[in-house]
Amino acid sequence: MPLEDDHGRAVTGIRVSLTDRCNFDCVYCHNEGLGDTRGPMDPQDGEMTADEVVRVLEVVHEFGVEKVKFTGGEPMLRDDLTEIIQRVPDGMEVSMTTNGTFLPGRAAELAAAGLTRVNVSQDAIDPEAFAELTKSGAYDKVIEGVEAALEAGLAPVKLNMVVMEPTAGYVPRMVDHVAENDGLQLQLIEYMPEITGHPEWAIDIDRVHDWLTDRADRVEHREMHDRRRYYVGADGEAETPDIDAGDPDGPAAGEGMVEIVDPVENEEFCANCHRVRVTHDGKFKGCLNRHDDHRSMADMTREQIRATFRETVANRVPYYGEYMVKEDGQWVVNDDYIDRPVPTADDD
Ligand code: 5AD
Repeated sequence: MPLEDDHGRAVTGIRVSLTDRCNFDCVYCHNEGLGDTRGPMDPQDGEMTADEVVRVLEVVHEFGVEKVKFTGGEPMLRDDLTEIIQRVPDGMEVSMTTNGTFLPGRAAELAAAGLTRVNVSQDAIDPEAFAELTKSGAYDKVIEGVEAALEAGLAPVKLNMVVMEPTAGYVPRMVDHVAENDGLQLQLIEYMPEITGHPEWAIDIDRVHDWLTDRADRVEHREMHDRRRYYVGADGEAETPDIDAGDPDGPAAGEGMVEIVDPVENEEFCANCHRVRVTHDGKFKGCLNRHDDHRSMADMTREQIRATFRETVANRVPYYGEYMVKEDGQWVVNDDYIDRPVPTADDD
């Protein structure tokens, strides 16, 4: 049975950053909530070893965590990524979020090692805009990477697009793109300005929901995840959408699927969060947007890691907005929240 936190959320997933190195320098990147730490490309001292990654996965698997997502930085910069994927405990589902540039020539190897799915960041469908956003000219490599993932059987490939002022204009073409190409899905991710600054880039995500409702042939609303799924046809001609609360059918032939990930100021989103995180340097983290709850696993025994995991789960906040508050248009740490007495795992 998975561990449940104090707010009734079972922890069933873990997101593990394997490195904070990246060959891109995306203008919006929150780097797993750590802020801008882009550094030299050589292996870093603080990075968890493959053994350490495997050990933490084995421990959380004991607690019923069924899914792991590897992320970064760029996880494919790890030379031992294939080994790590191979050593994930049996029965855990493995996926990865990547910028896609290293997938050509390597996707098949990762799939053979046990990877089942990838998210590839693609924030624009225009090479110049892409270069501007990522501070990299590797657009063609990313498109090739997506192809390579599909060829390796890693379908559906989810394209992650951060929706903000500089990218919002590309939403219609990205939606057409997934409607026209089999095996692709689109995740429109609301820009989170809290860590990266640039509050002026934030957009009203409800406008995107409304636009998609018009564009879609069919909208599915699954209460369980509180996510809407928009099914879009390639022709772009929308009928009045059916809002369907029934079982998910998946996209029909010639249809694409689009989801909106909208965590900002959205308590419902957090109420449906079932994952904890591990930073590249081996610390548990109960919420993307918190920095007061990092628990280092360096030099810990398995038993200590178990205790640390329990503590991290016990300290999960119901809503990340309690941790960050807006003052004069800027996101700042909520001191009232930080000053409150912190419960420990022994208090239960
Ligand atoms: N806001 C929203 N999403 C972000 N990502 C990174 N930074 C931000 C941000 N500030 C998402 C990107 C990337 C994934 C790892 O995190 O979609 O694919």
